[in-house]
Amino acid sequence: MELLFRAMTQDDAEAVAAIEAKSFAVPWKRDDFWREAKNELASYIVGVLDGKIVAYAGAWVSFNQADVMSVAVDPEYRGQGLGTLLFGELIRVVKARGATAITLEVRPSNTAAIKLYESFGLRSVGRRRGYYIDNGEDALIMWNTRL
Ligand SMILES: CC(C)(COP(=O)(O)OP(=O)(O)OC[C@H]1O[C@@H](n2cnc3c(N)ncnc32)[C@H](O)[C@@H]1OP(=O)(O)O)[C@@H](O)C(=O)NCCC(=O)NCCS
Repeated sequence: MELLFRAMTQDDAEAVAAIEAKSFAVPWKRDDFWREAKNELASYIVGVLDGKIVAYAGAWVSFNQADVMSVAVDPEYRGQGLGTLLFGELIRVVKARGATAITLEVRPSNTAAIKLYESFGLRSVGRRRGYYIDNGEDALIMWNTRL
């Protein structure tokens, strides 16, 4: 089984939103992804295993900076290295668009995601207080400025 990556299209919005709903407290909806697929500033990718979308990630690229908007693996497929392949592919895509730095926000309680990002050289440089509206949790701000 090989995980294949391709750009997200508007036809993928439904499947992506289904994984999003299983992954986040305040999930984006189908229409949000439908819009993102057509956003010129955005680069979204999907990971396909045996014809099924099992992962997706996206970032906005502006000048040399990539802002990560989404990273998720279907819960049934986590812990097998797919997230690492996914984030590696996202970095490849944003670098191809000229990004030399990448940043994102993550919950301090999200150990798996923080470990994943650290393995790609991102480091926590600060906090946004009360960033997450569902429980008022802070966000860690992570950066890698040498992609
Ligand atoms: C974060 C996420 C994308 C990781 O996907 P994944 O396929 O499980 O990732 P991998 O299997 O490649 O694991 C990546 C690293 O995360 C860590 N990790 C994975 N699952 C973990 C767990 N349950 N607890 C602690 N660490 C974990 C491991 O350190 C692993 O590194 P290793 O291979 O050196 O051990 C996935 O957990 C997810 O979709 N979470 C819900 C959505 C989310 O929180 N996205 C990030 C928002 S900022």
